[in-house]
Amino acid sequence: MKPNKRFYGRRRTRSLRQKEKDLMKTFLPEIEIVPSSDGTFLDLSTYFGKSTQQFCLEVGFGKGEHLLWQAQNNEDVGFIGAEPFLNGVASLLSKIKEKNINNIRIFPDTVSQILHSLPSQSINKVFVLFPDPWPKSRHQKRRLINIETLDIFARIMTDDAELRLATDDAEYASWMLRLGLSHKSFEWTALRPDDWRIRPSDWPLTRYEEKNRSGGLGPVYLRFVRLPRN
Ligand SMILES: C[S@@+](CC[C@H](N)C(=O)[O-])C[C@H]1O[C@@H](n2cnc3c(N)ncnc32)[C@H](O)[C@@H]1O
Repeated sequence: MKPNKRFYGRRRTRSLRQKEKDLMKTFLPEIEIVPSSDGTFLDLSTYFGKSTQQFCLEVGFGKGEHLLWQAQNNEDVGFIGAEPFLNGVASLLSKIKEKNINNIRIFPDTVSQILHSLPSQSINKVFVLFPDPWPKSRHQKRRLINIETLDIFARIMTDDAELRLATDDAEYASWMLRLGLSHKSFEWTALRPDDWRIRPSDWPLTRYEEKNRSGGLGPVYLRFVRLPRN
């Protein structure tokens, strides 16, 4: 599977309001993660300070409700969010400012552009919640979860780090599971159906999940652990 470097979703659903434009211009640069241009890995302590020892990555945070909840409930942890949907970025910026959160940093574009700059064994949790399912077979190469992405996650994640994936698309669920189960660096943690059917208490509802409760299969919550390197 080839990397999905292009972005097929929407950057905007409406023009940004003046206040949002101002936040993008003045506040975003204060908390923006900038990928290295020379192939070196980023020093995450320059973004979060030396005292921050644990880091999480959320890919495609939408409007950022889950990321915000995690940051508020884990104040010692540094959170990196990647999202190319600019209305979502602006919305999160305004909540970060309003609530005075200081442990979130944002990359306002597709995650593939930042992943290569993240140091090996630096991330303790990765969240990819309700990525676009691209159900048509000719579009499946656009899926965020693919072998290359899992390989990069395996590189950047620490031993025993957790990868959380969610979807409400049955076919994408089995795709995620198949790729996760066959990857040598990951182990699925579920022991019984409730382990993937019931959302854990430290995993708040996302906006997408709330809006799209369809009845049907219902969301699946997949948790993988990054197996220790020997
Ligand atoms: C269906 S929405 C889910 C948003 C959020 N996780 C939620 O559950 O409410 C999928 C999100 O992934 C984002 N996305 C798509 N491709 C991406 C990429 N390559 N890197 C980062 N985010 C991406 C989209 O912009 C969109 O906001």
